[in-house]
Amino acid sequence: MNFHILTLFPEMVEHGLCTSILGRAISAGILTVNAVNIRDFAFNKHNKVDDYTYGGGAGMLMQAEPVYLAVESVREKAGHIPRVIYLTPQGTTFSQSMAEDFSKEEDLVFLCGHYEGIDERVLEEVVTDYVSIGDYVLTGGELPAMVMIDAIARLVPGVLNNKDSAEFESFKDGLLEYPQYSRPEVWHGKEVPKVLLSGHHKNIEEWRFQQSVERTRMRRPDLYQKWLEQKDSCKES
Ligand code: ADE
Repeated sequence: MNFHILTLFPEMVEHGLCTSILGRAISAGILTVNAVNIRDFAFNKHNKVDDYTYGGGAGMLMQAEPVYLAVESVREKAGHIPRVIYLTPQGTTFSQSMAEDFSKEEDLVFLCGHYEGIDERVLEEVVTDYVSIGDYVLTGGELPAMVMIDAIARLVPGVLNNKDSAEFESFKDGLLEYPQYSRPEVWHGKEVPKVLLSGHHKNIEEWRFQQSVERTRMRRPDLYQKWLEQKDSCKES
């Protein structure tokens, strides 16, 4: 899968994405990260990409043409017209099911805004998905793009070396993951729950499930409610 990130700070995403699990997947040729500097498409004297907003108001806006040309360059490289995600607090809140949907694409383009945003006209022409990573405002789209890429990439076959670990995640079946323990058996006077030492797989599975349910009920009542509703609708059908 190919991630194309259109940004004014390409080194930020290159450094952020090329380590650890994603770095390994890039070396293995499973993923590519193509950081495109929007400034390279500003064909004016000072490579300027921003200007004042019509109608007045504080701050500068990224201009349409360099963004458009950067998108065009990626379309050419990809050989088709990939989805273009614009990172903005005005978008749909990113979720695990959106990550699953995006992970099926061959190419994805992330458009990272800065300053006061991007000229609306180019957004209308190129953006297919407006996505937010939460109800707070960041200084640019690079961190949200990296968050999304991490969540999407780990779902791409071969990125995690154990297939189970992709499935075995906090949102499996809509429940949070149960607590886990490693050695030593007693740490700071706290013992590992006895059932986990029993070797009785069925009991362990049941204990973990109950822990998941209880943890979801306590920490994420919103998810718990959804899980209950989904469980009931399965029973009815
Ligand atoms: N750009 C600035 N804040 C953002 C957010 N919360 N999500 C996505 N993009 C953003």
